[in-house]
Amino acid sequence: MANTIQNWEQMTYPFFNITLNYNLNAFEPHIDARTMHVHYNTILTDYIKKLNQHLESHSELQSMTLIELISYAETSHDTELLRQAGEVYSHFFFFTELRPSTGQIIIGITPQATHKITSAFGGWKNFKDEFTNATLSVFGSGCVWLIKDNKGELRITTKPIIPQNCTPILCLDTWEHAYFLKHLNNRQAYVDAFWNVVDWVKFSEKI
Ligand SMILES: [Fe+2]
Repeated sequence: MANTIQNWEQMTYPFFNITLNYNLNAFEPHIDARTMHVHYNTILTDYIKKLNQHLESHSELQSMTLIELISYAETSHDTELLRQAGEVYSHFFFFTELRPSTGQIIIGITPQATHKITSAFGGWKNFKDEFTNATLSVFGSGCVWLIKDNKGELRITTKPIIPQNCTPILCLDTWEHAYFLKHLNNRQAYVDAFWNVVDWVKFSEKI
């Protein structure tokens, strides 16, 4: 399978890192190039390596996509596989939901997306406040997701692994490796910076 940014959700063993359609310094000053380099080239690569090592001796799992592996791991209570596949999934999602900033934060948001955010949260400010509060509430490491559940309802959830039977819309990695080099322990500053680098076109398509 070609290693492209478009088809990582169909990727199966052996997993390999996605090719990004931006440079690692593309998000300065919001997310610094050094953090992007460490996060993408070192940490994500290590997650992928560990997942492949786990799958190496499990031929029955090698045709599964990440979502299928997560579902299998939950059903079989394989916490190690769940963590490994979940980390790769959330990181692939995170790195492909970003887009270099144009300096105009609202570019790409459709009226339909605004309508859905307003219906669910009362407006963009309320949504961002709620998402930020969820991010600040995560003790230690994990992810904050905006998801659309199987009834089409939007929800913010703090789960290290994407919940089943839902469509992920947005994911913020709250591991310190995602922001410590630039923001130290100021997670609030990291969330504030994040809004400037979201691909709002992609966001609007998914929501
Ligand atoms: Fe991360």
